[in-house]
Amino acid sequence: MNPTRSLSMEELRSAAVEVLKVNDLGTMTSAAPNLYPHMWSWDAAFVAIGLARTSVPRAVTELRSLLKAQWSTGMIPHIVFSDNDTGYFPGFDRWGTESAAALPEGIRSSGICQPPVHAIALRHIVDRGRENGGEDQEVAESFLAESFDGWLAWHRWLAAVRDPDSVGLVEIHHGWESGFDNSPRWDGPYSRIVPGPVPAFTRRDVLHVADASERPDDDEYTKYLWLVQQMAEVGFDDAAVQDAVDFRVRDVFFSAILAASSDVLAGLGDELGREHEAGELRAMAARFRAGVASTVDPETGLARDYDVLAREWIGTETVSGFAPLVAGGDPALLAAQRELLRGPRWMGFPGLRFPLPPSTSPASDAFRPRTYWRGPVWPFLNLLLGWACARDGEAALFEILRSASLEQLSDLQFGEYYEPFTGEPLGSLAQAWTAAAALEWVGSYQGNNKGK
Ligand code: SER
Repeated sequence: MNPTRSLSMEELRSAAVEVLKVNDLGTMTSAAPNLYPHMWSWDAAFVAIGLARTSVPRAVTELRSLLKAQWSTGMIPHIVFSDNDTGYFPGFDRWGTESAAALPEGIRSSGICQPPVHAIALRHIVDRGRENGGEDQEVAESFLAESFDGWLAWHRWLAAVRDPDSVGLVEIHHGWESGFDNSPRWDGPYSRIVPGPVPAFTRRDVLHVADASERPDDDEYTKYLWLVQQMAEVGFDDAAVQDAVDFRVRDVFFSAILAASSDVLAGLGDELGREHEAGELRAMAARFRAGVASTVDPETGLARDYDVLAREWIGTETVSGFAPLVAGGDPALLAAQRELLRGPRWMGFPGLRFPLPPSTSPASDAFRPRTYWRGPVWPFLNLLLGWACARDGEAALFEILRSASLEQLSDLQFGEYYEPFTGEPLGSLAQAWTAAAALEWVGSYQGNNKGK
């Protein structure tokens, strides 16, 4: 192994550890120090993957804290508010979840969810625990036994409540649930929303970025708050929300994560001797994998979302079109998708700083290189794509994603997202899941190069 390379790996590792320390609130990690001073559900899963490389018990604490906030329905909320009242907007008070029947006693959370990456994080924790042995193994395995039913309830809730017709696609009720907040995927559905009166609000997010155009705009925020209000009016009751809300979309990327995660949770279930539940989870994985594959547009080769209210497909060229690569499945479909991903509209687009997929194709009219989900490269997503490649034995693409990610992250800024052509970090710096992605990439590199 090249010593210079090894030195920079060590620097990257310790800088990433430092970022996770800065964000550590004790039993949860803030998504970012200023912009996001609370715990976000899918951020927490990636953070746990990174933490498992440095401290298995701390990684366990992260997921345990998240699971404590699980609603009695099984839903895991997308934000768990910390006691740090540093002015994030919309805060707990604005959410109106206090009166929701399913909110657990003593928990302050939002009332919507995010993609279920958690079982994948749990798998990483168990694997790291076993590699380390001793107390780490004990802590990881006992957490697996203690928490399995919680994750199972979460997956069951998604399958039953968000896919009541068993089409194999998860319905979301807010762009925030996708995690791709202002992606052009959602421009059609949002364009049809006419918000009613929304009480005045002052945004805080724009104070924490260099330029407000890196964030969603005020009209988008008004609609975001309108949807929250619609859900609050019906007490965040699952059945009532579906009828009340102006945003109903089948999210293909969310569905792909549910498919992949359900398989992983099934494997963990096997280890616990829970064969029956493992079978149920495998059936769930198969259903959502098939649902994802059914959305692929034969013309573009990309998977699509479906707007339930407008009854139309959403074919915007965003990275979510590669949902089948996350879900896994049909080798021919996956091979075609990998070729597309490496091709000139994506990782091979001329002039990219690194061969990493932008959130929207630069070849699309919807592409905006500096605006949040409209174009920038998101490091945690590359880790997820890399994980799926490793699962499927796709060493070549995995290597490209890893070496490009390691280079991108060696700026030691840990940006929330990156301008695809200049490589400039944007949004928040010291973003926790970006640091976690760095730790996982470094760990997998060092693991593979042991003794070389
Ligand atoms: N991602 C949203 C935000 O920007 C909340 O989920 O605040």
